[in-house]
Amino acid sequence: MKTALITGVTGQDGSYLSEFLLEKGYDVHGVIRRSSVDYRERIAHMEKEQNFHLHYADMGDSLSLVKVIAAVNPDEIYNLAAQSHVQVSFDVPEFTADVDAVGVLRILEAVRVCGFADTCRIYQASTSELYGKVEEVPQSESTPFHPYSPYAVAKQYGYWIVKEYREAYHMYCCSGILFNHESERRGETFVTRKITLAAARIAQGKQDKLYLGNLSSKRDWGYARDYVECMWLMLQQDKPDDYVIATGEQHTVREFCTLAFHYAGIELKWQGSGVDEKGINRATGKAIVEVSPDFYRPTDVINLLGNPAKAKAELGWNPTKTSFAELVRLMVDHDLKRTAVERTEEYIKTNLTEYLQAGIVK
Ligand code: NAP
Ligand code: GDD
Repeated sequence: MKTALITGVTGQDGSYLSEFLLEKGYDVHGVIRRSSVDYRERIAHMEKEQNFHLHYADMGDSLSLVKVIAAVNPDEIYNLAAQSHVQVSFDVPEFTADVDAVGVLRILEAVRVCGFADTCRIYQASTSELYGKVEEVPQSESTPFHPYSPYAVAKQYGYWIVKEYREAYHMYCCSGILFNHESERRGETFVTRKITLAAARIAQGKQDKLYLGNLSSKRDWGYARDYVECMWLMLQQDKPDDYVIATGEQHTVREFCTLAFHYAGIELKWQGSGVDEKGINRATGKAIVEVSPDFYRPTDVINLLGNPAKAKAELGWNPTKTSFAELVRLMVDHDLKRTAVERTEEYIKTNLTEYLQAGIVK
C-alpha cells in the first residue's frame, strides 16, 4: 500500500484527490490547520475511513511540517495548500508569499531533513497565473512567465524552487501548471461558483442581483474532479517533469454567466459596456447582473488559454472528459438543490420565534 500526504486536504482539489487516492488503495494523510469552525465540509464524508488520517500542521510552521512528514514517511506528497485567492493576495501579500512561496521550500527542506529525498515524490500545485500578462496565446510549458499579482509572484518562487531541488538534489519533484478548474466544491468567492450560486438563488427568488467585476476576462475552465488524476499521473512517470494541464478551450466570464443563468431557467441579454454593462432578464426586463468596480483587481489576468498537448501525449490524459457545458450544468444543478433548502432573510425574520425554539438561530 502506498502512502500519500496531502497539504490543503480541506480544499476543493484536496478533497477530490483524497477520494481518488483512497479508491486507488492509498493510505491517505492530510494536513489540516486549526480553525474556529470544526466542520470540514469537503472531507467530512471521508473522516471515518480507515485509510484516511488527519494531522495538524501549518505551511508557515517548518517544525510542524517536519514532524508530520517524519511520522508519515510518505511515498508521495501533494502540496496543494495555498492562500489561493488572487484578489485577496493584493490585501495579504506577505502572508501569501509566506504560504505560497516559502511554504514550498519548507516542504522540500522537510523531506530532505527527514532523509526521504530519494524515496518521496513531490507534486507542487503550480498555476496558469504564472503566465499573467500573457506573452503568447495559447500558453504551453515553453511560454515565458509574466506573473501579474502577489499570488502569481509567490507561486513563481514555488515553481523555480521545485525545479532547483530537482536539479540540485535529483529529487523527484514536479509542478503541475494547472489552468482554472472548478466544481460544485469550488470556493464561493471564485467567479464561477459565485455565478452558479447567484443564478440558483435569483431563479428561486432568494437574491435580487449579482455584482461582478471584469466580464470580458477569458479563462480555460476545466473540471476539478478530472484534474486531480493528472497530479497523480505526474508522480507515476519514469522521470519528473512539469506539465500544463488545461482543456484548450476558452470562454469569457460573460459566457459562463449566460450559460449558468440559462441552466437555472433565466435567459439573459447584455446591454451597455464597462461598469455600465448589465445582464437583463429577457422575461422580466429587470437588470439582474451588474458590474461593480469592487471586484476589479489592480492588475488582472485576462487571456488564459492552455495547450495541453504534452500532458495528452506523455500522460495519456484526456483534457475534455467533462465539457464546458457539462461543467456549468453540474455546478448549477448542484446549487439549485442547495439553495432550494435555504431560507430567505425575510422568511427567517418573520418566523424568528419558531426558528429560535427549533434552535436554528441562536
Ligand atoms: P482552495 O480550495 O482554496 O484550498 C486551499 C487549501 O490550502 C485549503 O485546504 C486551506 O486550508 C489550505 N491552506 C491555506 N493556507 C494554509 C496554511 N497556512 N497551512 C496549511 N494549509 C493551508 O484551493 P484549490 O482550488 O483546492 O487549489 C489547490 C491548489 O492548487 C492551491 O495551491 C492553488 O493555488 C492551486 N491552483 C488552483 C487552481 C484552481 O483553479 N482551483 C488552479 C491552479 C492552481 P483551510 O481549509 O484551512 O483554509
Ligand atoms: N473572484 C471573482 N469575483 N472574479 C471575478 C469577478 C468576481 O466577482 N468578476 C470578474 N472576475 C474575473 C477576475 O477578474 C478574473 O479575471 C476571473 O474572473 C477569474 O477569477 P477567479 O475565479 O477569482 O479565479 P482566478 O483566475 O483569479 O484564480 C483561480 O485560478 C488560478 C489559475 O489560473 C484560482 O483558483 C487560483 O488559485 C489559480 O491559480
